[in-house]
Amino acid sequence: MGGFQGFITEILANRSTVGAIAPSTPMLAKAITKPARDSIGHRRWLEVGPGTGVFTRRLIGALHEGDHLDVVELNSRFCKHLRKSVLPVSGSQVTLHEGSIEEVNLQGGYDGIVCGLPYNIFPTHVSRSIIRRLVSMLKEDGTLSFFEYAAIRNLRQVVGNKDMKRVSRWHARFVERLQDDMDSSRELVLMNLPPAWAVHLSPKKSMS
Ligand SMILES: C[S@@+](CC[C@H](N)C(=O)[O-])C[C@H]1O[C@@H](n2cnc3c(N)ncnc32)[C@H](O)[C@@H]1O
Repeated sequence: MGGFQGFITEILANRSTVGAIAPSTPMLAKAITKPARDSIGHRRWLEVGPGTGVFTRRLIGALHEGDHLDVVELNSRFCKHLRKSVLPVSGSQVTLHEGSIEEVNLQGGYDGIVCGLPYNIFPTHVSRSIIRRLVSMLKEDGTLSFFEYAAIRNLRQVVGNKDMKRVSRWHARFVERLQDDMDSSRELVLMNLPPAWAVHLSPKKSMS
């Protein structure tokens, strides 16, 4: 398992939870983990939906003494792979939680949360509750980072059935509202299959 072939096997077996056509590239990993890596102090990071660990490797490579990374993955085969091939170099600085982000017990107060979930294929109430939970687990100056495949939403609006179009409009509005309510930035990563936006959201700084 691991790499492209293992990922494809899991996609075919778990379409409703893996939701990608290939693992993300190192270029997307670099863009999506940037705010977490740039944070300072004894950092606490959370990664949700690591899959084969493309983002995890990048985060582990940036761990300093005193930092800690929680990783939450639902799929037991991905967890097995992470335990065997990705996490050993990190010792006790990384904790893998096998289960759903909706259920695992986490303390919150994170400097950086990197979300690799295919949230826009989840039912709308599930996406809303997961993203709200992640936002609530951020520190005041923390950042939630996730990715969206570029143009996929527009494509769904053209070729999707009625339900797909409705859900896709809902996700577009939900993300727009989050970007309005929070400080946001995004970076287009062309070297990914398909190209993707890395989106970063932080609680708005108070004006006082
Ligand atoms: C689109 S893949 C992304 C994998 C990797 N981050 C990447 O970009 O290559 C989504 C990952 O989220 C995991 N996942 C889906 N639902 C989840 C949930 N509720 N809690 C935790 N992980 C979940 C899947 O098993 C899969 O590993």
